[in-house]
Amino acid sequence: MFRKLTTTAGAPVPSNQDSLTAGPRGPVLMQDYQLLEKLAHQNRERIPERTVHAKGWGAHGVLKITGDISKYTIAKALQPGAETPMLARFSTVAGESGAADHERDVRGFSLKFYTEDGNWDLVGNNTPVFFVRDPYKFPDFIHTQKRHPKTNLRSPTAMWDFWSLSPESLHQVTILMSDRGLPQSPMHMNGYGSHTFSFWNAEGERFWVKFHFKTEQGHDYYTNSDAEKVVGKTREGYQERLYTAIDEGDFPRWKVQVQIMPETDAEKTDYNPFDLTKVWPHADYPPIDIGVLELNRNPENYFQEIEYAAFSPSNIVPGISFSPDKMLQARIFSYADAHRYRLGTHYEQMPVNQPRCPVHHYHKDGAMNYAGLQTGTPDAYYEPNSVDGAPVEVPEAQEPPLKVSGDADRYDHRKGHDDFTQVTALFNIFDDGEKERLYSNVAAAMGGVPAEIIERQCKLFDQVHPDYGKGVRDAVRAADPDKYDPNAVPVTEKTPQQAAE
Ligand code: NDP
Ligand code: HEM
Repeated sequence: MFRKLTTTAGAPVPSNQDSLTAGPRGPVLMQDYQLLEKLAHQNRERIPERTVHAKGWGAHGVLKITGDISKYTIAKALQPGAETPMLARFSTVAGESGAADHERDVRGFSLKFYTEDGNWDLVGNNTPVFFVRDPYKFPDFIHTQKRHPKTNLRSPTAMWDFWSLSPESLHQVTILMSDRGLPQSPMHMNGYGSHTFSFWNAEGERFWVKFHFKTEQGHDYYTNSDAEKVVGKTREGYQERLYTAIDEGDFPRWKVQVQIMPETDAEKTDYNPFDLTKVWPHADYPPIDIGVLELNRNPENYFQEIEYAAFSPSNIVPGISFSPDKMLQARIFSYADAHRYRLGTHYEQMPVNQPRCPVHHYHKDGAMNYAGLQTGTPDAYYEPNSVDGAPVEVPEAQEPPLKVSGDADRYDHRKGHDDFTQVTALFNIFDDGEKERLYSNVAAAMGGVPAEIIERQCKLFDQVHPDYGKGVRDAVRAADPDKYDPNAVPVTEKTPQQAAE
């Protein structure tokens, strides 16, 4: 039993094999609309890839809440017993959409929860910290990860030049170069909301919160040489493993935890709890188990459900809000802006992005507005109005006031920060094998980098732990004995801007 092939306008198509030509030898005729239509559609099959995190893998699942944090938040999806459908997309950061899956890189860990109160997105990574703490530096950092304008190759020199002049990156660089920088699959890594967010409760009290998703599959990783072998066989190992596991009913799960900080503690900690280059030590703010995240359904259509997915840190719901974290504040703008460009003005009407609750707003018209006026009544297309049934504000969704203070200025984000202590704590967790792999991974990533930059970076490693600096120097020397001579290296420890001050 076949279906009738039709044009996009629904008319039957007499032939899908032969173009309409003048005689058997051609040429084709302009009036072969179906040929033109097929060619024109093909030209539009790609959309701009994400400017970062272009290569990704995703699936649907559920968030189940088993703990009780109702005293901290009114968020419906976080109440005891709540089960919320969700979408996850994992990604690498730097590679384009065809990049090999098993590259050493930070992994994105994006979650969209379709809650009763609208979509709540957590757009995190598999690391609890980030490379920069001021969003002004994000585009510069990303330039170092992307291709060199002239060679069109990735540039280790650009990466280490930037990192060695940005000591705030040390924490994330150390995680990236450690075993966790190359997980075997999306199932074998943790996810972190990374930023500090806030919870607010029915009494109007605010608490700072960090989100953690701990893999129940274990932290399996590849060494660089394992990964080279894997990539030699398949560039799509993550997609294969995630898809197959779910297809076979072997559903990946993560334990969901939060760390909670009372609002006023933020003034007391000896680190800035809104600094994205820092964690909150577990001893100070112990993780609280609140439930489990399970992925249990593969997309039917990858493009429509994963490529079209639009995750944004601006998507919050009552009971959950932001914090003064500068990076988070910038991301609140950046993602929806990217979606309007990548997917179009009405990207939230695409099925995968549609909230699973009624949507009523006063936006109007624009390209591809399938939903039409979403006020629910044709006379209500402005506000305020006196139209019966028109959407009105929801005062109970108002979060408590966020306390902010300080003079507006451009504060030097590199002054007065301890970029080392937490990295030392991490370094001390690594066993001897992990430390050796850390040194050799760093050395491998430094191939072709000028000695001056290597030495500048090693001086930062020295400040984390003398073994770290020495270990990397030895590994660099082992990789290229002729080139490396730290004594001959002129070291510039300041950026040209800092040197000019
Ligand atoms: P803890 O000893 O209480 O926590 C250490 C944490 O480090 C573990 O819970 C684990 O986090 C993580 N970890 C363990 N092994 C590795 C590894 N091989 N590579 C990377 N991370 C690992 O001490 P603190 O909370 O004081 O943290 C010490 C350091 O651990 C921090 O400076 C930070 O670098 C790192 N860390 C801390 C996290 C936090 O939220 N406090 C989270 C992740 C890392 P997990 O349970 O999340 O797997
Ligand atoms: C993707 C901007 C920092 C995690 C993106 C995209 C943009 C962007 C524009 C593409 C979005 C799209 O096309 O859909 C920024 C800016 C940042 C920043 C401006 C800092 C100022 C971060 C941080 C994290 C992060 C700190 C994690 C903690 C992600 C993830 C994706 C992404 C996971 C992929 C989303 C998906 O799966 O669709 N980022 N980013 N980013 N970013 Fe960021």
